[in-house]
Amino acid sequence: MTIQSFHPPKRTLMGPGPSDVYPRVTEALSRPTIGHLDPEFVRMMDEVKELLQYAFRTENALTLPVSAPGSAGMETCFANLVEPGDKVIVCINGVFGMRMKENVERCGGEAVIVQGEWGRAVDPAAVEETLKANPDAVILSFVHAETSTGARSDAEKLCALAREHNCLTIVDAVTSLGGSQLEVDAWGIDAIYSGTQKCLSCVPGLSPVSFSQRAVDKIQNRKTKVQSWFLDLNLVMGYWGKGAKRAYHHTAPVNDLYALHESLVILQEEGIENAWVRHQQHHNALVAGLEAMGMSMVVPADERLAQLNLVTIPEGADDAAVRSQLLNDYNLEIGAGLGDFAGKVWRIGLMGCAATKTNVLFCLGALQAVLGKSGATEAAMAVYNS
Ligand SMILES: Cc1ncc(COP(=O)(O)O)c(C=O)c1O
Repeated sequence: MTIQSFHPPKRTLMGPGPSDVYPRVTEALSRPTIGHLDPEFVRMMDEVKELLQYAFRTENALTLPVSAPGSAGMETCFANLVEPGDKVIVCINGVFGMRMKENVERCGGEAVIVQGEWGRAVDPAAVEETLKANPDAVILSFVHAETSTGARSDAEKLCALAREHNCLTIVDAVTSLGGSQLEVDAWGIDAIYSGTQKCLSCVPGLSPVSFSQRAVDKIQNRKTKVQSWFLDLNLVMGYWGKGAKRAYHHTAPVNDLYALHESLVILQEEGIENAWVRHQQHHNALVAGLEAMGMSMVVPADERLAQLNLVTIPEGADDAAVRSQLLNDYNLEIGAGLGDFAGKVWRIGLMGCAATKTNVLFCLGALQAVLGKSGATEAAMAVYNS
């Protein structure tokens, strides 16, 4: 059999990511590939760094996209900052906190866990208690936007606590960047990683990261080499360092970087604060519609992510059958529950260019038809008209 070109169906992506990609971004992807040391490409790389500084709200010089997905950004932070024997406080309130613990241990560090409740923000009081009980800890790590639970933690407060106790911070912002307020410099975040496939509405496969001077000092004063050659920032910097003559490290994913550049230009055109507000407005309408169908949100209102909405599966509804029907009849993807929440919740994403009135009404309309309910779109419209 001759295998033919692959043509994916056209879906509306309202799950936990990837989200819908801006047409301008897919167009940028198809531009001619040029050499990754071509002066024109190098100029664009500098712009990508500057645009990422805008998105992260930082002046950190060490701000760049790692050439691999969010998990590689996570590994970059842990592999570079955690040395064997380092004590790291890890907050776990969902799946991605659990991965942080795994990273600490693989780097030879000792993970001290602050166990949180699924569907709730990390508890600052529990973090403070753990910091006090472990004065030899050197890093605090937590997930700003837990994609498995839809909870948003108070990154500003947690970073302030870390600083009071002389700890660096590693923050997962894979789902928050571009969708929720995030202030790397103002909140004193030391190491942060994100992904391109969520609120930036870019294709998956790159991981923006940023490191403060305090983090850079720790990396440069390591007693041991970073275990991963590919993710060693001392080497990556030779390739991404501004102004300096670039040294070959690896072949950058040239076209993916055109795509990221375009998505960040779009973010800048909209204005990041406007993007945060837009996510919140559509979230408010979506929640009104879901609640009008008698469904309940999992996360308390003041800890909810606007861009990822966890809703309890109504009694009598068949999780997999409903999601299949949405996919097959409406070309609409919503997410299943993950980990402890598998089979109990749906995860409805409003990320990046998917956060629109059209999408909210489409999703609510499809859900009410499949579930045999009513009143959802009217409730959402009432929010839009208020
Ligand atoms: C909070 C969080 N951290 C890390 C990751 C891992 O990112 P990736 O799947 O791009 O490797 C994800 C992916 O969904 C995520 O939501």
